[in-house]
Formats: sequence, structure tokens, C-alpha cells
Amino acid sequence: MCGIVGAVAERNITAVLVEGLKRLEYRGYDSAGVALLNGQGQLERRRRVGKVSELQAALNDEPLAGRLGIAHTRWATHGAPSERNAHPHFSGQELAVVHNGIIENHEQLRAQLKDLGYVFSSDTDTEVIVHLLEHTLKTQPDLTAALKEAVKQLHGAYGLAVISAQQPDRLLAARSGSPLVIGLGLGENFLASDQLALRQVTDRFMYLEEGDIAEIRRDGVQIWDVDGKPVQRESVQYHEGAEAADKGEFRHFMLKEIFEQPKVVQRTLEGRLGSNQVLVQAFGPQAAELFAKVRNVQIVACGTSYHAGMVARYWLEELAGIPCQIEVASEFRYRKVVVQPDTLFISISQSGETADTLAALRNAKALSPEQGGYLASLAICNVGISSLVRESDLCLLTQAGPEIGVASTKAFTTQLVALMLLTLSLGQVRGALDKQLEAELVDELRRLPTRLDEALAMDAVVEKISELFAEKHHALFLGRGAQYPVAMEGALKLKEISYIHAEAYPAGELKHGPLALVDSDMPVVTVAPNNELLEKLKSNLQEVRARGGELIVFADQQAGMSNGEGTHVVNMPHIHDLLAPILYTLPLQLLSYYVAVLKGTDVDQPRNLAKSVTVE
Ligand code: G6P
Repeated sequence: MCGIVGAVAERNITAVLVEGLKRLEYRGYDSAGVALLNGQGQLERRRRVGKVSELQAALNDEPLAGRLGIAHTRWATHGAPSERNAHPHFSGQELAVVHNGIIENHEQLRAQLKDLGYVFSSDTDTEVIVHLLEHTLKTQPDLTAALKEAVKQLHGAYGLAVISAQQPDRLLAARSGSPLVIGLGLGENFLASDQLALRQVTDRFMYLEEGDIAEIRRDGVQIWDVDGKPVQRESVQYHEGAEAADKGEFRHFMLKEIFEQPKVVQRTLEGRLGSNQVLVQAFGPQAAELFAKVRNVQIVACGTSYHAGMVARYWLEELAGIPCQIEVASEFRYRKVVVQPDTLFISISQSGETADTLAALRNAKALSPEQGGYLASLAICNVGISSLVRESDLCLLTQAGPEIGVASTKAFTTQLVALMLLTLSLGQVRGALDKQLEAELVDELRRLPTRLDEALAMDAVVEKISELFAEKHHALFLGRGAQYPVAMEGALKLKEISYIHAEAYPAGELKHGPLALVDSDMPVVTVAPNNELLEKLKSNLQEVRARGGELIVFADQQAGMSNGEGTHVVNMPHIHDLLAPILYTLPLQLLSYYVAVLKGTDVDQPRNLAKSVTVE
């Protein structure tokens, strides 16, 4: 994903910018660039395809020095990875912009600007921003005022950093849908898309909010909110270890990662939602053209990632009308597969290094078109520099951040979010998706982090319920429709960290076998959103109660289910049925976590399991 770094100082800031880019490398990118205002008051830039080290080598050969500058790592969306498409983009010789996100109305703006005589030197959507700003400067010569005016014409998502040779005292920033943070120094200030990029230079940060525009000078920062009113944003002191490889206030990484989900889901959505539709270009420059050809989907993954794929199958068939097959990678890789024409191959992986998933991708790619090969490969992955991402044609990165707990939690929910974005994109491009439903789901996705927070607020209730499991050796998880894979994931979590034998069944299969096991020693956990399958599910639950089985039901608050003898109901926030799998995963994660804590197991590193299975 794209990264931004900027600085305004009294010293040469080239090294600060390049170091900042290096710190963002883990997010994945295909090219990098930097622009600085040199000692003669001119803008100069270097751009390279490939690693930041290539850019560094270019700077070693032809050094740049300056006290005001911006830098960028690019992940291609519009226009292939190439030097001419790499940021920073210029308009003339005096204005430079770097951009994260996607401008939806770039074609229309490009046409208007071309008519006005602006010459485009890249295929990017970003270049319209810099020319638009240049044009606005003609009638509004103050850079800050011009930026405020120009962004009003941009539809889509952006995090912007702007510098001008005409106004060398300031670095400008604008945020709408792509995060930006200001780093506060002494007599110098910085900007980045992630504070991680700036920890080398400061520990004080100011986070921009949606719609904010900031004027950053050496000696101060001024911010205007979405309505153009001057605002103060709180400055926050960062304490070493407050993030990443530190448990912070939490007892285990797993719990910390469960509670990070609202934030990382938000991050996964950032820059990928337009006003009422998903931004298809988030999947890469060729995505729209390629998605239009997709007639089938084959998903391959392992473990928790496989469960994410199972949920996606329900979504893809329902919303995009695309037949979807899913298989565990260790099986897929060793059998002869018959590929339907125009099938998109999708791999899902947290690490991007799982041996079976990688081997499956390589096998899929090795099939020639005559052997009925795949249309293209797409990776849904959490690690931008992983083998899976490098070897796939397209990718969508989940933005879960490093996941330390062996039992996957936040990687799963961000995978689900990414898969929903994919489903909506495919549905949109193929014209299979009702526009109103898409707008409704985009809206619901925006609200999802809040819903997840509400679900996590039930932490204490779930902890209490976990006591029911402390002495048990078996548990059954039930779900219907897209909640069946959620039940599977719930059972897997319980197995992984509490060592209780757990099995998941589609609720309708209960009477075809597992009912024989149900008695007072077999707790039955059920996920019950308020959908058309609810009444059927309720009768399945009666079957369990009739055999003396203890029921734990996570149910929509509008589902009309209440506590009773042997029935423990946890009321869940109401959510659109199609997004329920994401929400209902959270209480199941908490349940397995608290059961494991009660049993005193090694929660973060359960016996016999590894975080990343890079061998067969
Ligand atoms: C291991 C981990 C699981 C993970 C699976 C697939 O089994 O313990 O948590 O789901 O590998 O890993 P991946 O990195 O490909 O998602």
C-alpha cells in the first residue's frame, strides 16, 4: 500500500524521508520517490521502480539536499508500476504532490484539465490533483487556500502532501479516507501516513481527522476541519512499545489483537470506499478490466484463512452471482483440477508464506491456457512483501498489522472485510450488484468499526460464560448459511488454545449424527443473527435443549431470544445480515480466549502449533 513521508526543517531532511519510507516498506509497494526543495529554491526529484534501496542508490549517485520535502512508496492502482507513474507528481516545475488513495472522478478532471492545456506525464489519478491545484493557484495564489478549494472537486479517497517552490515555508496535508499523522519536532515538523515512519525523529504526534487540511511549518501547525473552521487536534505522546510487539495493558497478545479489530478493520477500509461504492482500483490498475471477465472463482487457503474463504463463497454467489469453489491448499495442490473457463484464482493468507498455499498458487500458475489455466491470480494477504503477494497478479492487503498470537484473530476479520470489498467490486464491475444494495453495504461497512466496538463491550459477559467450559472436554458449534464457517472458526479457536475438542456443524445437520453426542456435558454454542434462517435455527436449538444440552446463543438483539433454563443468550448489536459473520466472530474469539485463560494454557503459543507454517 502507498506510504507518505514529508518534512519541513532547518536541516537537510533527505535521510529522514528515505528512512521514513524504509519504515513503511512492510506494507508493500512497487516504486518509490522523493522531491525536495533544493538550496537554489528549485524542486528536484528522484523516482525509482522497485525497492527503497533502489531510490537510495539513485540518491547516492545523484544526491539531493533540502529542508522541505515529500516522499512516497507507491502501490499501483492507476497506471502500471513505472518511473513515470511513481510519485511525487509535478505540475510545472514548482508544485509537487504525493497521494494515497484513489480519485474516483479522475477521468472527468483529466479531460477538463487537458482542455485547459495541462499536459499529463503519467497514467495516474494523482496527477489530476497536482494540475488541479496548479490551476486553482492562478485565481487563489495562497497555497493553503488553493488546496482547500481544489480538494472540494475531488471525489474518492485521499491522503495528500503538497509542497511548492513558490511558498517554501510550508508543507501542506489533506486527509479524506486515507490516514495522515503530523510528527511534532523542535523547530521542525513532519508528516506521514503512519506514525511508524516518524519514530526516528519524534515521539509526539497529531492525528488528522476526516476532512482536515493542515499547514505545517517549521515552527507551528495550523489545521482546518471539514467545514473550514480552524481546529486544534490533540497532540499525543507515543511511549515506546505502545504498539506492535508489546502487549501493552493486555495480558496476552491474543486479547490485544482481538481488541485491535475495530481499528484494523477501519484501516483495511481506508482509501477503498467511495461515496456509495467500493473503489475497484484498490485491487490494482488492471482490476476493473480483469474483473469484468471473471465467470468463476477458486479460493485456496489454510486454517483460519480457509474459513474466511468459506464465508466469501456465500457472499460471492449471493452478491456477485459468481460460482465459487473453495478448497484447503494442502488438498488442492495434490490433485488434478478441472478449471472452468475464466476462473479467478484467489489465495488467502495472513503471512503470505504458508507452504501449501504458496504451492497451490504456483501449481495454478503453472497451468497453461491449453491445460485450462486460470484467468489471473489474486492474493488477499497481510504482508505486502510476502512471496504470495509477489507471485500473484493482483493483491489486496489486509491492514491488520503484525499478528503475534498464534491463533489468528484480527487477520481473519480483516480478511473478511477485504473479501467483502472484493465481492462488491466483482458485483459492481459485472453489473450483477444492485446499486442501492451496494450503497447500503458501503454505509454499513463504514459503521462496522463502531459495531465491533459494541461487540467487544460485551467482554465481561462472555468471560462469565466461559466458566461453563472449564470442566468440559467437548463442545459443539452451530451456524447456518454464512454463519456456518463462523461456527467453524469458533470451534477452531477453542481447539487451538484451550485444547477442548470442538466441532462445528451446519445446524441443519444436527439430527444427522451429532445430536447423538448431546448431553449435559456437551455445551452447544450457536451464532444466531436475525435472518430468514432464524426460525429454523430456533427449532434446532429446541432439539438440543430436549437432550439436556446447555446452550450458549449469540443472538441479534432483535431476534427475540431470551435466557432460560440451560440457555444463555448474549444479545448482539444489530447489523446488516451480510456483515454479521464479521461481527459474530468476535464473541467466539473472546469465549475461546477466556476458556484458555481459565484452563491455564499458553494462550499466545499453544502447544504443537506454529504461527507461520512454511514447511509441509
Ligand atoms: C497456521 C496458523 C493459523 C493460520 C494458518 C494459515 O496454522 O497457526 O493461525 O490460519 O497457519 O496461515 P496463513 O498465514 O496462510 O493465513
